[in-house]
Amino acid sequence: MLESRGNWSTKAGFILAASGSAIGLGNIWKFPYITGDYGGGAFVLVYLICVAVIGLPLMISELIVGRRSQKNAVTAFEKLHRENSPWKIVGWLGVASGFIILSFYSVVAGWALAYIFKAIVGFSGTAEQITGQFGGLAGNASDSVMWHTLFMGMTIAIVIGGVKGGLERWSKILMPSLFIILFGLMTYGLFFTNGGMQAVSFLFKPDFSKLTSEAILSAMGHAFFTLSLGMGAMITYGSYLKTQEGILKDAIIISFLDTLIALMAGIAIFSLVFHYGMEPGQSVGLIFKTLPVLFAETGRWISVPFFILLTFAALTSAISILEVVVAYFIDEKHWSRKKATLLLGGIIYLVGILSAVGKWTVPFRGSDQGFLDIFDYISTNYMLPIGGFLTCLYVAYVVDEKIKQSEFGSSGALYMTLSILLRFVTPVAVFIVILNGLDLLPFVE
Ligand code: PHE
Repeated sequence: MLESRGNWSTKAGFILAASGSAIGLGNIWKFPYITGDYGGGAFVLVYLICVAVIGLPLMISELIVGRRSQKNAVTAFEKLHRENSPWKIVGWLGVASGFIILSFYSVVAGWALAYIFKAIVGFSGTAEQITGQFGGLAGNASDSVMWHTLFMGMTIAIVIGGVKGGLERWSKILMPSLFIILFGLMTYGLFFTNGGMQAVSFLFKPDFSKLTSEAILSAMGHAFFTLSLGMGAMITYGSYLKTQEGILKDAIIISFLDTLIALMAGIAIFSLVFHYGMEPGQSVGLIFKTLPVLFAETGRWISVPFFILLTFAALTSAISILEVVVAYFIDEKHWSRKKATLLLGGIIYLVGILSAVGKWTVPFRGSDQGFLDIFDYISTNYMLPIGGFLTCLYVAYVVDEKIKQSEFGSSGALYMTLSILLRFVTPVAVFIVILNGLDLLPFVE
């Protein structure tokens, strides 16, 4: 039976769902931890530049492709070109990225879920004891697999619910709540700890001596990851849009909110890091170690809602990743939504076990690393940027000028700026950063 594809019920519903996709673990878990690992300000600056020069034009492009084609991320590339267009490969690359990203994303989200229960029990003891809980969880394969199972189950259940009932309804309630609690944490960090000022200078005072080619690559990769770009998520969400106007405005709002949330999380977390005299470079465990130390003092009324909302922020992102994958099979293979979601979600779940079992390591870039890090590194730093680079070329050079203008809603100066960015600036920037990250250019060591 052919099911209708579904639509967002309102424009605001779309913006919330798309922001829900963008805002997730990338902002609250990953941004602070990689900023800590790469030494702060200079990394943040490159990331912000990437959001503006690469992220925003690409977000507009993906929304244009999605809304115009009204198709999933694979078929969309054919629809705006021709049947059997080779550009379809870009869509497939996106589906592949979705598989990999969701597999490890669900493991981290599972940790957030586990922390809800730790928060209910309450954090107590010395700082070492509290931070040590993270190793106890991440290092315990059966626990991590169990939480990953639960989280993937929730993701699958929502995606089966479909566009309006599943994706949109949840985002509407959860995103605003997350904003409020994060704002509270940031205010607390800034004004009620001794680390506030140090956090601000760590994040915003660039020390360029810390900027390696790898930091630049990761900053760019993160811009893709956090804005959900380069794998067709915004194409897919755009394809459920009907209304004509306002793509530029939507893209600006989504990127702005996403960046704001990341910076708020950064300030909140680094205030605590400095207040308690911890090390900024704590890798994947950063938020799971620092926040509970504060929560031990503030109590459950703040820790429980925080981890609930973190889990939900992760959910609204996870569903968008799974949606990219299932939309293709619903549109093209005419699978029922239920069958597509269960089957594909199930496979992703199995791949995720590799990441959940932290002990399994393989040699990668000169050392033994777990699958979570490897999957994250390859998908964020290479697959998403390459997908984004190709999408950019596609929109700049393949899609008909008239289509772009009518979707963008004008042909004036703003449109010209976008055209120039898409043709010359964005793809070149992505290309250079990738080559530089592969050490093929002599720019920065
Ligand atoms: N943007 C999401 C986050 O920051 C992750 C994501 C990546 C979602 C790619 C969709 C596509 O958590």
